[in-house]
Amino acid sequence: MATTILNHPLIDHKLTIMRNKETGTKEFRQNLDEIAMLMAYEVTKGLPLKNKEVETPICTMTGKELVRPVVLVPILRAGLGLVDGFKAIVPHAKVGHIGMARNEETLEPEEYYAKFPNCLDHADVIVVDPMLATGGSAAAAIANIKKRGAKYIKLACLVGAPEGVDLIEKEHPDVDLVVAALDEKLNELGYIVPGLGDAGDRLFGTEE
Ligand code: PRP
Ligand code: URA
Repeated sequence: MATTILNHPLIDHKLTIMRNKETGTKEFRQNLDEIAMLMAYEVTKGLPLKNKEVETPICTMTGKELVRPVVLVPILRAGLGLVDGFKAIVPHAKVGHIGMARNEETLEPEEYYAKFPNCLDHADVIVVDPMLATGGSAAAAIANIKKRGAKYIKLACLVGAPEGVDLIEKEHPDVDLVVAALDEKLNELGYIVPGLGDAGDRLFGTEE
C-alpha cells in the first residue's frame, strides 16, 4: 500500500513544541491531542464509502456512508495520547487496546495486554502510536491484530524513523502508514534523532 508523510504546517508547529525538552507534561499532552485531530482527518481520507439513500427536507438523494466500522487501536502506553483526538473526529469509533513491551532477554516486543471489540475482522482498524522507531512494537502489534482477524489496517504515527518505516513496508506491505514527520535516524539506544525523547514518559510524567 502506501506511506504518507504529512508535513502539515499546523502539525509541524505543534510538534516543535512537543520536541522542545523544556515542554512539560500538560503542554506535551495538549499538543499531542491537537495533532491527533489533524492526523485523524488525514488518516481517514481514504476510508471506503457506499451509497446511502437519504431524504433531505427537500428531496431524496443518494448520499454516502462508511462501509465498515472504525476501530482505533492505541499501542500502550504512549498510543493512548492519540485516542481522544481521533475520537473527537471519529466519535463512533470503537477502541481496542494492545500493550507491547520489549522482552529484556530476547529484546523482542511481546504482547502484555489485549482487548478488542468483536467487529475487528470487518472493521477499518487504525493503529496509533506517537513513535515509530525500530518499528518492532508496531510490526508485532499489527501481526497480532491480523492474527485476530483484522484485514483493513492503517498505522498512524507522529514521528517515524527511516528504519521503522522500512520495517512496516517490508513486514506489512498491505498496511497504509501515515507519519506526521519523518526524522533522520535512530541513535545507539534506539531513540529517534532528533525525535522528542521517550513519548510515554513525557506524556505520563514518568521521566526521571
Ligand atoms: C515507545 C513508543 C512505541 C515504541 C517505539 O513505547 O510508544 O510503542 O516505543 O519503539 P520501536 O519502534 O523501536 O518498537 P515504549 O516501548 O517506550 O513503551 P511506553 O509507551 O509504555 O512508554
Ligand atoms: N520510543 C520513544 O518513546 N521514543 C523514541 O525515540 C524511540 C522509542
